[in-house]
Amino acid sequence: MVNIILLGPPGAGKGTQARRLVEERGMVQLSTGDMLREARTSGTDMGKRVAEVMDRGELVTDEIVIGLIEEKIAADTGQGGGFIFDGFPRTLPQADALGAMLTRMGQRLDAVIEMRVEDEALVSRVSGRFTCGNCGEVYHDETRPTKVSGTCDVCGSTDLRRRADDNAESLKQRLMEYYKKTSPLIGYYYAQGDLFTVDGLAEIEEVASKIAGVLAQSASS
Ligand code: AP5
Repeated sequence: MVNIILLGPPGAGKGTQARRLVEERGMVQLSTGDMLREARTSGTDMGKRVAEVMDRGELVTDEIVIGLIEEKIAADTGQGGGFIFDGFPRTLPQADALGAMLTRMGQRLDAVIEMRVEDEALVSRVSGRFTCGNCGEVYHDETRPTKVSGTCDVCGSTDLRRRADDNAESLKQRLMEYYKKTSPLIGYYYAQGDLFTVDGLAEIEEVASKIAGVLAQSASS
C-alpha cells in the first residue's frame, strides 16, 4: 500500500493519472477539486461561497478543504491500495495538516509526484477538456476524444460537461495561485526526501509508466 500526492498546475494531468491508478491498482483517489464541485451543487451557503471562489480561479480556504479531506479519510475502510491525494495539499498549512493526519493514522507519505508542464501547453489542455458527468472520465477535444462523438467510452453516458472555471481568465488566476501558494510545496517535499518529478508533457501512457516506476521504487524503500 502506498500513499502519494500528485502535484502540478491546473491541467497537468493529475486527474487523468489518478483515475488510472484507481483502476489499475485499487488506490483511493481523494480529489479536493471533485469534492468541492460536489459541494457547490449542494445549494448550501457554503456551496455557494465555494462556487464563487472556484469560478474566480482562487483557492478555497484551508479550513474547508482540510475538513473535507479529514471526513473522507475517516470514512475510508482501509481496503484500498493507498491514497492518491489529487490537488491536495495546495498550501503549506494544508501540507502540515496532511502530515499530521497521516501520523495520527499510523501511515506515511510514500511519494510526492510533481507533474511538470509548461504554461503554454496548459492553456490548450484546459480549454479542450471535457468530462463525463456520470463516471468522471476525462477527455480532450484533440488529444483524447471519445470514440463515439458525444458518448462516454467508459459508461455510455451522453452527459459530457465542461467546467465553469476552464476559461482563459480563470486559468490565468489558477496559475498565479499555483505559483504563489502551491509551488513552494516542491521545496517542502524535496527537503523531506519525498519528491519525484515526471515530465507531464509526455504522452499519457508514458507519464503513467514513469509514475509506475516511482511507485515501484517507493514500495521497495
Ligand atoms: P481541481 O479540480 O483540483 O483543478 P486543477 O488543480 O486546476 O487541476 P485540473 O483538474 O484542472 O487538472 P488536472 O491536473 O487534473 O488535469 P486533467 O487530468 O484533467 O481544482 C479546481 C478548483 O478547486 C481550484 O481552482 C480551487 O478553487 C479549488 N480547490 C481544489 N483543491 C483545492 C485545495 N486543496 N485548496 C484550495 N482550493 C482547492 O487533464 C487536463 C486535460 O489534459 C484533459 O483534457 C486531459 O485529457 C488532457 N491530458 C492529460 N494528460 C495529458 C497528456 N499527458 N498529454 C496530453 N493531454 C493530456
